[in-house]
Amino acid sequence: MRHLTLTLVVVIVVLFTKDANSSAAIILEVFDENVFVPKNGFREQGLRLHNHYRSLNKVSPLKLDHELNKLAHAHAEKLASWNNLTASETGFDENLWSHRGELLPLAKDLEYAIRCWYTGSTTPGRVQASVDHFVLRSDSVTSVGFGVGTSEHNGEGYSVVVALYQ
Ligand SMILES: *[C@@H]1O[C@H](CO)[C@@H](O)[C@H](O)[C@H]1NC(C)=O
Repeated sequence: MRHLTLTLVVVIVVLFTKDANSSAAIILEVFDENVFVPKNGFREQGLRLHNHYRSLNKVSPLKLDHELNKLAHAHAEKLASWNNLTASETGFDENLWSHRGELLPLAKDLEYAIRCWYTGSTTPGRVQASVDHFVLRSDSVTSVGFGVGTSEHNGEGYSVVVALYQ
């Protein structure tokens, strides 16, 4: 009987722990999407592409920075609602990109933005950009933060990508 009780307690504790873990995981996932925690989302994909271009230019890779992600996100959302492309007043080096038309997945916006900054590509059309060519090829920056903001104006999608560097 004692043995059985002990076993039951152990089983319950295990169940409890498992449950607590999985709800923590769910909360974390939601948190990751809404806030700016770098996991395996569009920012990591963007970072890989950005560092690929940097390696072609023989400059050191960048890492993602939480604070820069936050600032870039806030500025991208602001520009999306402002419906224009204006430099931020953060004091950081930055690159901007915007697109009018059908809204795309965030990772696509970021991919097109980075390709545009490095190659001048205007895919997928109706693209506007503001590029700091020096910072793209500079070893003096070590971190980057990405933000994508989206909105709609006159029934048309408007997305803005902001990259801030330090
Ligand atoms: C962008 O829009 C904001 C808000 O309307 C305005 O304050 C800002 O001057 C605009 N920037 C440009 C470059 O037009």
